[in-house]
Amino acid sequence: MPNPFYITTPIYYVNARPHLGHAYTTIAADVACRFNSMRGVETFFLTGTDEHGDKVIRAAKKENLSPRNYVDKISKLFKDLWPELNIKYNYFIRTTDASHRAVVEQVLQKIYDSGDIYFSEYTGQYCFGCERFYTKRELVDGKCPDHETVPEIIKESNYFFKMSRYQDWLIDHIKKNPDFIRPEKYKNEVLSFLKEPLEDLCISRPKTRLQWGITLPFDNNYVTYVWFDALLNYISALKYPYGIEFKKFWSSVQHIVAKDILKPHGIYWPIMLKSAGVPIYKHLNVHGYWNIDQSKMSKSLGNVIEPLQLKNIYGLDAFRFFLMRDMVFGLDSNFSEDAFIQRINSDLANDLGNLFSRVLAMAHKYFKGIVPDVNPEIEKELHLGLESDALKTIDKYEKAMEIFAFHKAIIVIWDYINKMNKSIDTTAPWVLAKKKVSLKQLEAVIYNLLEGLRVISGLIYPIMPDTATTMQKHLGMNPEKPFYNLDILRTWKTITAGTMLPKSIILFPRIDMKKDNNSLTKTDDSESLIPEIKPEITFDEFNKIDLRVGTVIRAEAIPRAKKLLKIEVDLGEKRTIVAGISATYSHEELVGKQIIVVANLKPTKLMGTLSKGMLIAAVDNNVCSIATLDQKVKPGTPLS
Ligand code: ME8
Repeated sequence: MPNPFYITTPIYYVNARPHLGHAYTTIAADVACRFNSMRGVETFFLTGTDEHGDKVIRAAKKENLSPRNYVDKISKLFKDLWPELNIKYNYFIRTTDASHRAVVEQVLQKIYDSGDIYFSEYTGQYCFGCERFYTKRELVDGKCPDHETVPEIIKESNYFFKMSRYQDWLIDHIKKNPDFIRPEKYKNEVLSFLKEPLEDLCISRPKTRLQWGITLPFDNNYVTYVWFDALLNYISALKYPYGIEFKKFWSSVQHIVAKDILKPHGIYWPIMLKSAGVPIYKHLNVHGYWNIDQSKMSKSLGNVIEPLQLKNIYGLDAFRFFLMRDMVFGLDSNFSEDAFIQRINSDLANDLGNLFSRVLAMAHKYFKGIVPDVNPEIEKELHLGLESDALKTIDKYEKAMEIFAFHKAIIVIWDYINKMNKSIDTTAPWVLAKKKVSLKQLEAVIYNLLEGLRVISGLIYPIMPDTATTMQKHLGMNPEKPFYNLDILRTWKTITAGTMLPKSIILFPRIDMKKDNNSLTKTDDSESLIPEIKPEITFDEFNKIDLRVGTVIRAEAIPRAKKLLKIEVDLGEKRTIVAGISATYSHEELVGKQIIVVANLKPTKLMGTLSKGMLIAAVDNNVCSIATLDQKVKPGTPLS
C-alpha cells in the first residue's frame, strides 16, 4: 500500500474575508490532494481558521460584535466558500474548538515539563499587526516590513520557548533533507536566517493585555501566543496523540503556505515538534504572492480580489486553471483580468476546447457517434504515436505534480494537446473519409484521438474536476468506474468500441475582449434564456438589501472601459457608482433621472474607480433598461 498523503493549508485569520490569495493556496492543496488520490493513495486534506489573538479582537470591536460572534461569522465565510470552489477538504479546524484547545494545553505542559519553557522579563519591539516581537535586524528602517509601522516598545514578564537549544539540530535536519523546504530558494532563506543566533520565542501574552486565547496550563494569568496555538492545529486536527488519523497520516504530512509565513513554519514549527517529541513534517511547500499592480493583495491596501466574483463571471474551472497555470509555484505572480481572459481564449477555448469539439464532431460525422473498432495491424502501420506520447506525458506530469510544480504539469498536458492537434492535421481524417479503402485507417485515427482525449480528461481532473467529468461523459465513459486513476489512464484502449457517444458541447466559450472588456460578453452560440427564478428567501433576508432612490447628478465615461459609466448620485448623500450601461445610455441623458440603487452593497473597484452601490437595470439582448419611478421622490427615499 503506498504511503498516505496528508496536506494542510495555513489556517486563515478571521480578521478579513477570504480573497484570491487564500483561494490560491486552498485550491493548490485541493489539486495536490486530488492528484494523490489518482495515484490510489489515501488522502487527508485539512484547512480551517485561526481565531485567537489581538488582531481578531480588534476586528470584532470594529464590527461591534463579541469575539465569539465575530469569529463564528467570518469562519463561516471561509467554510462556505471552499465547496463553491470545488475544494474537498476532509476537516475544517477552528482554533476555538475545545478539542484543539485540549491538544494545545497538553503539548504546552509536555514542553514545560521537559524544561524547554522558562519565565523571564523581556523588553522588545512589538508589532500588533503581526502579533510578535521584532528584532532590530528584522526591521526595515525601524519599521515592521509587513505593516510598515514602527513597532511599540513593550516590557513584560512572559514565558519563553528555548528555540536556541535546537538551532544546530534544525540546520542539520534541513541540510540532511534537501527538499524539506521547497522550492530551494526558501530553504536557503531559512538557512541564511539560521546563520545568526536564534532568539528564544515569547509564547505567552499576559491576560491583562489579552484574554482571547488559550490559557497556559501552568499559569492562569497568561494566554498562549497565537502562533504557538495555531501551528498545533496540524496535529490537533488528527486527534494527536492517540487518534487513528494521527497514526495514519502524520508521518506523511506536507504543508502549503505562502512566503509570508515561512519563518513560523520553517523554524518555530519543526522546533516545537522536536521539543514535544513529535516526528517532524515531511515537506514545507512555499509559494509566492498574488500581486495586484505589483503590490501584495491585502485588505489594508484595499486591492483584494473576491474569488466568487471571478468564478461567477468566468466559470469555476477556468478560474482554477488560471490560478494554477499563471503562478510558477514559489514565485510571485501579478493578477490581471486581461491575462486571465487570454488564457481562457488561447489555452481553454482554442487548444483544449477546439480539440475536444473537433474529435467528437468527426466521430459523429464519420461513425454516427459510435466508437469505432480498431484493426491492430493497420494501427501499427499508421505510427500515430499518441499512445507512447501519452505514457511519456503521464510520467512527466506525475513528476511535476509531486513537487507542486502545477504550472509545469499543465504545460506538459498542453504539449500533448498540441501533439494531438498536429496529429489531426497530418492524418487528415477528412481525406481518409473520402475513400472507402481508407476506412480502417480512419477508424484507427479517430479511436486513438478519442483515447488521447480520455488521457487528457484524466490529467486535468485535479485542476478542472467538472470539465474532466464532462469530457469523460462525452467520451462514453462509465461515471461509476474509478476513471480518475493514473494506472487506468496509462491503459490505452480503455474506451469500448461500439459505445454510443453523446453529442459534443462547447467546453469553454470564447470571451470577446474586443466587444467589451468589462462586462465580459461570452460568445456562446446558445440562445439567451430567461434565467430560472432564484431560490426563495425570507422577508428578513430581503430586508437586508437597502434599496434607495437616487438622483443622477453627473455621469461620465471611464477611459478604456467600453461600457462603463461613472455616475454621481444624490442618495441623501453623494455617491459614486460604476455601471456597465454606456452602450444604451449616454451620460447626458442620465442626468436628472431617478434611479434605484442597492445602497449597502460592498464597495468594489472597477477599472480603478471605487463603486459604492449598484443601480438596478434589466438587460435583454444586450439592451439595457434602467429601473426608474413614475413620480419624483426625495433623493435617498428607501424602497419598501
Ligand atoms: O498567516 N498571495 O493567516 P492569513 C498568495 N493565521 N497567497 C496569499 C496571499 C497573496 N497575496 N495573501 C494570503 C496567517 N495568502 C496565519 C496562519 S497557520 C498555522 C497560521 C494566503 O489569513 C497564503 O497561503 O494571513 C498565506 O500564507 C496565507 O494566506 C496567510 O493567511
